[in-house]
Amino acid sequence: MSEKHPEFTLNNGITMPAFGLGVFQSSPEDTRSAVKMAIESGYRLIDTAAAYNNEQQVGEGIRASDIAREDIFVTTKLKPADYGYDAALRAFDTSMQKLGLEVLDLYLLHWPLPMQFADTLASWKAAERLLAEGRTRAIGVCNFRPLHLQQLVEQSETVPALNQVELHPFLVQNDLREANRKLNIVTQAWSPIGGVNRYWESGDDPLVHPAILTLADKYGKTAAQIILRWHLDRGVSVIPKSVNPQRIQENIDVFDFSLTQEEIRAIDALDQNRRGGPDPDARMPGRPHQQ
Ligand SMILES: NC(=O)c1ccc[n+]([C@@H]2O[C@H](COP(=O)([O-])OP(=O)(O)OC[C@H]3O[C@@H](n4cnc5c(N)ncnc54)[C@H](OP(=O)(O)O)[C@@H]3O)[C@@H](O)[C@H]2O)c1
Repeated sequence: MSEKHPEFTLNNGITMPAFGLGVFQSSPEDTRSAVKMAIESGYRLIDTAAAYNNEQQVGEGIRASDIAREDIFVTTKLKPADYGYDAALRAFDTSMQKLGLEVLDLYLLHWPLPMQFADTLASWKAAERLLAEGRTRAIGVCNFRPLHLQQLVEQSETVPALNQVELHPFLVQNDLREANRKLNIVTQAWSPIGGVNRYWESGDDPLVHPAILTLADKYGKTAAQIILRWHLDRGVSVIPKSVNPQRIQENIDVFDFSLTQEEIRAIDALDQNRRGGPDPDARMPGRPHQQ
């Protein structure tokens, strides 16, 4: 990862910005302006999904900005309800129509669905075809555990370029990061600033943890900026979501400082190994919680 313009080189040789905007739970009206604002603030990666119902507004936001399409990296995801070879190809076409794009940058399977892995594999084969046809520049997965990765790699031709997983100071995912690293798969954090812990009021919030606030004080940064810097310093890509112009700018303002190894370890130590989101082994299609 180069620090000045942080990017990862994916395992098929293409580059991807390390920092992006997430749009889960961004309403269609807010999504267009958030995407435009983010691009104007320096974001060059946008992460959406068919399940978020805002692909169209992501496309509109990109076109409303004054940055060329080819300078923006766009990710979308196949939802479990569309798993299967033919269904996945059709779902990709629908996503591309909504986004208004000719070529996608990264297409992700949204969940591993271990209880019906044959459908997952069929969807992956469809993704491989889209890659071979040049309709997407890279393909990857979300929420895959090491065993799911192993099964996929053993039964297909393509190692995923990226694995997007729940990862924040209360779920630091060291084993999974190591499994990804060994396969040359980039780890990308969803809910990087612990958003999933705020979906429901009962969750602990890393943004108010005293260890994070102490570092925020030391560096003259916000809690969100400290956590985002922690991810980047550990070699993890981040896609914080915001629809608020000030927070969109705040979140990407993390390239003028870095944490010491001791500070990184202090945040690692906040790990509770507890998910805020669904267990990938239990997640089935059609369930209401469609991140
Ligand atoms: N693959 C998957 O299964 C999966 C699952 C979940 C999420 N994702 C992706 O990951 C992205 C990020 O995850 P997430 O949205 O769950 O959580 P997140 O980015 O960790 O947190 C987002 C929440 O924090 C608030 N926020 C943003 N910046 C803030 C700041 N500087 N200070 C205080 N609050 C702030 C946002 O509200 P405001 O908008 O009001 O600022 C929003 O409520 C999603 O948008 C989506 O693209 C993927």
